[in-house]
Amino acid sequence: MLILHPNDIPSSEITPLEHYRDRRRFMQGMGILAAGAALGVAADVHAGIKLAGVRASAYKLDENATPYKSVTTYNNFYEFGTGKRDPAENAGSLKTRPWTVAIEGEVGKPGEYDIDALLKLAPLEERVYRMRCVEGWSMVIPWVGFPLHEIIRRAAPTGNARYVEFVTLNDRRQMPGQRSRVLDWPYVEGLRMDEAMNPLTLMAVGLYGEVLPNQNGAPIRLVVPWKYGFKSAKSIVKIRFVEKQPLTAWMKATPNEYGFYSNVNPQVDHPRWSQEKERRIGEFFKRDTLMFNGYGDQVAQLYRGMDLKKFF
Ligand code: MTE
Repeated sequence: MLILHPNDIPSSEITPLEHYRDRRRFMQGMGILAAGAALGVAADVHAGIKLAGVRASAYKLDENATPYKSVTTYNNFYEFGTGKRDPAENAGSLKTRPWTVAIEGEVGKPGEYDIDALLKLAPLEERVYRMRCVEGWSMVIPWVGFPLHEIIRRAAPTGNARYVEFVTLNDRRQMPGQRSRVLDWPYVEGLRMDEAMNPLTLMAVGLYGEVLPNQNGAPIRLVVPWKYGFKSAKSIVKIRFVEKQPLTAWMKATPNEYGFYSNVNPQVDHPRWSQEKERRIGEFFKRDTLMFNGYGDQVAQLYRGMDLKKFF
């Protein structure tokens, strides 16, 4: 995202998905999808392990979910390379067990959660969210997870906790992309406390009813659907409650391009491109980008009175 202008994204990155969908439709029409799979032709098959006890939720959309195949092969996860297909190809080296998430800083109850305890912390829900990348593409993803406030409440933040910092694993052996200095590792993101407490803010542990694939941020990641995708930090090992606004990885890299808030806002251009429109992966024509990615009813009040051009 540091490197590419949306118009620089080679069309080859996007068009194969169209071809793929067309081919699938054609094959379904011919009733030969099963035969195609037997011949090794790609279908939208899920490779993952089903998550048990996932409840439906009120977070649904009247929009088609992006096919599993696109959600899991068109990714940004610079720890595994900067190409869109790199994470799917390289993230096999990430070991997601054992895994712990440390809760630190301004809290009454610091500690470490084992990932399997976190999976049982609160009921798992399916939540279909619109996701908008700062580069100009978007997807609709059926996440599985629980709201971050479930962790925050148990951590008992002190009065000094004004922000929450999220830190990704830092391990070059497992994350070969960290050998490159494209970012100052580890990947760090942050939210203001009220943003973190918002019911929309999700800790995702799965998608499409299955365990989160490594390339999507296994075993646990943040999902903040009204902000550009880069706020949704992947493969989190630490959640720190702090008094001062965290310095995020992208703010460190290019502060004039990536601000702390990074709310989806079609009226505030990226310094190098407009944010008015987006390309939904799998669609040909661009669509208008919505203020707060369409979640204004739930989050606009968090920013009342703020100049969103200044606090971009
Ligand atoms: N988290 C880490 N640790 N490293 C990354 O490079 N990329 C971000 C975000 N979280 C990134 C990350 C960006 S730019 C986007 S758009 C989303 O992850 C992409 O999530 P997805 O690949 O599951 O769609």
